[in-house]
Amino acid sequence: MTTPTVLTVCLGNICRSPTAEAAIREAADEAGLELTVRSAGTGGWHVGEPPDARMRRAAAQVGLELDGAAERVDAEMLRGADLILAMDHSNLRDLERLADRAGVDTPIHLFREFDPDPGNGEVPDPYYGGADGFVEVVGIVRRTARELVRRIAAGELDLGGADGEGAA
Ligand code: 4NP
Repeated sequence: MTTPTVLTVCLGNICRSPTAEAAIREAADEAGLELTVRSAGTGGWHVGEPPDARMRRAAAQVGLELDGAAERVDAEMLRGADLILAMDHSNLRDLERLADRAGVDTPIHLFREFDPDPGNGEVPDPYYGGADGFVEVVGIVRRTARELVRRIAAGELDLGGADGEGAA
């Protein structure tokens, strides 16, 4: 079986989704679970940029290293994933629209559906706020990533195994 692919998506792909990507990778490593994790943004303004320096600082406080360059999500990315995780409701709507148009049936969920303490279901957008917001994002996504990985490892989520088609 090939390694399943999880795709995290926010607006700019420089704050929330790269942090969720790193947190899922961290949790998967800790659990000994093989997972490919990618991230992307629904908007293209920051394509090619590294993660936001404020986000990198907050993540580094807990030993999470954010790397990669921002990408804009497209139909091929959706198709190549087995599970797509939206950071907020707006991202979810945009992803569902894109998937519908492209005929992609990869499951799309709000990331915080897996949060033991999900609040309103959204990872709050820290971009226009202060340093506290970035620290809050790190806490939310690490807690959620651990529960997500626990559920995948327990076989509670059917990721199929990426085969280029995505899994139902
Ligand atoms: P992200 O945060 O979606 O978590 O990467 C944002 C990044 C950039 C912008 C908004 C949110 N922006 O408006 O440029």
